[in-house]
Amino acid sequence: MPREFETICVVGLGYIGLPTAATLASAGFAVKGCDVTPHIVEELNEGRAHFSEPDLDMLVRGAVSSGRLTAYTEPQPADAFIITVPTPIRDDKSPDMSYVETAARSVAPVLAEGNLVILESTSPLGATESVADVIREARPDLVDGETLSVALAYCPERILPGQMVRELVQNDRIVGGLTPADSECARDLYASFVRGEIHMTDAKTAELVKLIENAYRDVNIAFANEVANISEAHGLDPWEAIGLANRHPRVNILNPGPGVGGHCIAVDPWFLISNNGDLTGLMAEARRVNDGRPETVLEKVRAAAAETGSKKVACLGLAFKPDVDDLRESPAIDIAVGLAEEGFEICAVEPHVNALPEKLWRHDSIRLAGFEEALAKADIVVLLVGHKAFRNRAADADGKTVIDTVGLWR
Ligand SMILES: NC(=O)c1ccc[n+]([C@@H]2O[C@H](COP(=O)([O-])OP(=O)(O)OC[C@H]3O[C@@H](n4cnc5c(N)ncnc54)[C@H](O)[C@@H]3O)[C@@H](O)[C@H]2O)c1
Repeated sequence: MPREFETICVVGLGYIGLPTAATLASAGFAVKGCDVTPHIVEELNEGRAHFSEPDLDMLVRGAVSSGRLTAYTEPQPADAFIITVPTPIRDDKSPDMSYVETAARSVAPVLAEGNLVILESTSPLGATESVADVIREARPDLVDGETLSVALAYCPERILPGQMVRELVQNDRIVGGLTPADSECARDLYASFVRGEIHMTDAKTAELVKLIENAYRDVNIAFANEVANISEAHGLDPWEAIGLANRHPRVNILNPGPGVGGHCIAVDPWFLISNNGDLTGLMAEARRVNDGRPETVLEKVRAAAAETGSKKVACLGLAFKPDVDDLRESPAIDIAVGLAEEGFEICAVEPHVNALPEKLWRHDSIRLAGFEEALAKADIVVLLVGHKAFRNRAADADGKTVIDTVGLWR
């Protein structure tokens, strides 16, 4: 008999946790969302999502008004707990697991025998076992010899910003329990709302799967960026070369760009690199190549400034990828900051946000501007993100020096 669940507590209501909580509520579960940030809890209880994502507002409004989704600042008793808190890297690139540890400690007091705890946060190998250790230490009453009377599993999240609501239900899921029975228990939960296939494995393999997925993407992007470095050094067009190479039936090179950003691909490989030393030379080199791209863009802007005698720049796009408002770890931001520090005067155009992010506030020489205004003021136009809003606008930059880092206007 599949295990049945009525109440789910989602711990961490950010980009992953909030759509997950709303999806579970719309699938009929009673969902207790929990976040340590009070405004997120308040906004959710008023029926609003605190970030923009297609279809999320509608889903959240429906879930809250039906009474199936309620938010709190602390975990509430439930049949299952899903931990979706941040797992950043520290300055030395080692994983910072303090949010997961704190979340596990906050869940422990409300756990009951037979509950299921799922870690969805991207994590280094062994993280699920560490969550179990936190629970064992905090709740010795839930330990019988070696056995924990709470099921524990790692289930990585692979949803794509911009398509989260659809992918949460349609993607395949990997479910890795600390024991086979734990895997089955977690599978039963996902099977009740996921339409994709659910693949069971052990917790450590599931942790590895998530990390190699993103490291694979990073290495492949690094290859495209290295092709761009070579092409540009020879005055060649990397998009033309890659497009022609991809006519080979077994070649599929990705597109180069100004670097790799976001919360996942630029971060997750470090979870493997920092703990596996000599075994991760390729991944470490991919990180170096991708992290070096913003500097190559800066060099081009410096050269354009020397040629035009102007330091007036329009930076088109600040997000880490097209058509989202997510600016985290964005190479476009690093490029804007780098230019400001070198005395450039910058009009930044980002149609998906209403204000500059914190990293840019302190630079008086950077302003958020509309497309037309930025182009009117700039002599150099740096296209940093391939937003739809910039497509077919190449003619607006006629007469300016254009540095197209994403190949949108070629
Ligand atoms: N964003 C993505 O596209 C994506 C995709 C796949 C995996 N992930 C992984 O999912 C995890 C969560 O990422 P995210 O993008 O949702 O992060 P986020 O920063 O958007 O949200 C995390 C939320 O957790 C809250 N929080 C922090 N500590 C808490 C605690 N102790 N108790 C309750 N709430 C707490 C924060 O206030 C925040 O609202 C990370 O490990 C990330 O790597 C993210």
